[in-house]
Amino acid sequence: MKILIVGAGGREHALAWKIAQSPRADAIYSSVRAACGGKVIFAGNDLSKKENVLKFCKDKGIDFVVVGPEAPLADGMADLLRENGVPVFGPGRAGARLENSKAFSKNFLVNYNIPTSKAETYTDFASAKKAITEHALPVVVKADGLAAGKGVRICLTREDALTAVVDFMEKKIFGNAGDCVVVEEYLPGVEASVMAFVDGEHYLLLPVSRDHKRLYDKNQGPNTGGMGVYCPVPDVGEKELEFIKREVFDKVIAGLKKEKIDFCGIIYAGLMMTKNGPKVLEFNCRFGDPEAQAVLPLVKTDLLELLLACEQKKLAGMKLDVEDGACVCVVLASEGYPDKPLTGREITGLAQVNTAVFHAGTEVKDGKVLTKGGRVLGVTAVGENLRAARRKAYAEIEKIHFDGMQFRKDIGELQ
Ligand code: AMP
Ligand code: GLY
Repeated sequence: MKILIVGAGGREHALAWKIAQSPRADAIYSSVRAACGGKVIFAGNDLSKKENVLKFCKDKGIDFVVVGPEAPLADGMADLLRENGVPVFGPGRAGARLENSKAFSKNFLVNYNIPTSKAETYTDFASAKKAITEHALPVVVKADGLAAGKGVRICLTREDALTAVVDFMEKKIFGNAGDCVVVEEYLPGVEASVMAFVDGEHYLLLPVSRDHKRLYDKNQGPNTGGMGVYCPVPDVGEKELEFIKREVFDKVIAGLKKEKIDFCGIIYAGLMMTKNGPKVLEFNCRFGDPEAQAVLPLVKTDLLELLLACEQKKLAGMKLDVEDGACVCVVLASEGYPDKPLTGREITGLAQVNTAVFHAGTEVKDGKVLTKGGRVLGVTAVGENLRAARRKAYAEIEKIHFDGMQFRKDIGELQ
């Protein structure tokens, strides 16, 4: 089988690495150059536009496309491929709305009685401003559309909340994504990322993981796309999982069916574990990044078979076998990340590393590996338990260097 993976980050590197382990995968086309070798072939850089992807599929005779990031899904890439007879893992535009419109997903949560924080949606500046002056503090202000993980502000003061509304609605720092804002109750607690394979009728949960969104240790500093992940999460046990299945995923599947949204792909629920039980903060319509980098190494079942089962609506017959141990992924980021990452710096030591290193933002020039993005590498280690995985990941990081490299030292230390 010939497979194309769309996307060029650490998540897509992890997908290529895992899919390559499947005996059914003959060739995997990837835009992550560092993933290439063996069965994995470089697909070129120009694969974010759906028309280009369709042409690539026809030219190369691709049998199956796996879409990594949310933007092409929101843009209808999966619809276009399906209309042209190319099987694809990833929802169409309708399903992608669960992620790309916070207002849509909030309505979905409320309509199907899924536990979530209280929130109101505003499309005009005056009403949004009035709402924040009356809201209890802290208050959470969110831009409705996709904003690369930066459209959420936790505001401790009314001034901060006002700044957020001005930035989103008046200054339009995220363009149209801020035409509508969600003003939301703040929920204290620890977070958990729960991802499930979905075929439209059934779902299969992946092991629960925990991302670390803040830049600095002990959850300080600005929000980022994610600085590291551990999996599994000891404080989300059987009891919590039963609740999450019954109150979240069963209801999501029922809701999608009611709305006639045929969803093939991953549904990722970002949960806050509050003292009143788990509550949904957001949905994503794809694998989490860096979550995928720490979850996929623990999956024993053939990943390609699972992805195909979603596409063929055969998930009900599948089982997910998972390693007993734990996995830790630590993100190495550029100086200046997340605001203004400085790139083009040489990375040394990679050849000495004895664990999986997923490339999120690198390029090769004149035989040297250089930094090319905010998040650069995901150093990922599996161990018999969290402590062992953590020790190994940090020991391997010692071998890697680039100027200005920053990373959290507390990934895998339980919160
Ligand atoms: P979102 O993109 O909606 O997941 O928000 C990004 C991050 O902001 C989450 O991972 C949380 O850390 C934080 N967050 C979002 N909504 C809330 C909320 N209602 N209460 C507390 N923290 C939140
Ligand atoms: N790690 C958070 C996300 O993928 O949205």
